[in-house]
Amino acid sequence: MKRVITYGTFDMLHYGHINLLRRAKELGDYLIVALSTDKFNSVMKQKKCFFSYEQRKLLLEAIRYVDLVIPEESWEQKKEDMHLYHIDTFVIGDDWKGKFDYLKDEGVEVVYLTRTPEISTTQIKQDLKSKK
Ligand code: CTP
Repeated sequence: MKRVITYGTFDMLHYGHINLLRRAKELGDYLIVALSTDKFNSVMKQKKCFFSYEQRKLLLEAIRYVDLVIPEESWEQKKEDMHLYHIDTFVIGDDWKGKFDYLKDEGVEVVYLTRTPEISTTQIKQDLKSKK
């Protein structure tokens, strides 16, 4: 059984997220999403979420590609997670290209997937603001 993990905020779930999750699942048999907690988002990522952690988790758990959702509470937890969850492949969008290559030292494959063009949570928020 090949185990894959990805990390992110996944606020206001959109088709860019679904594309990412579908392709992540295709890389293995079991997909874990490490979902940024509200505290991690606000303190470390300077992001204010529209949906709470519990709401974002509920949405992700309803996606057929997602097998397990765990909390992402720090930048440093990744190394430990790779062993704790017996991960074979770490995957994330290519806006993070090169940033997590160090995880190869933990014996995992590191994959950066092309982002779906034009859509992002930030973009949706901006577009909604400018619409009358
Ligand atoms: N992602 C993607 N294509 C998009 C948007 C996001 O592949 N159009 C991927 C990201 O690369 C990441 C995951 O989805 O691996 C979660 O990204 P996240 O930052 O939560 O979503 P964004 O829509 O980019 O949110 P924001 O605008 O707040 O940065």
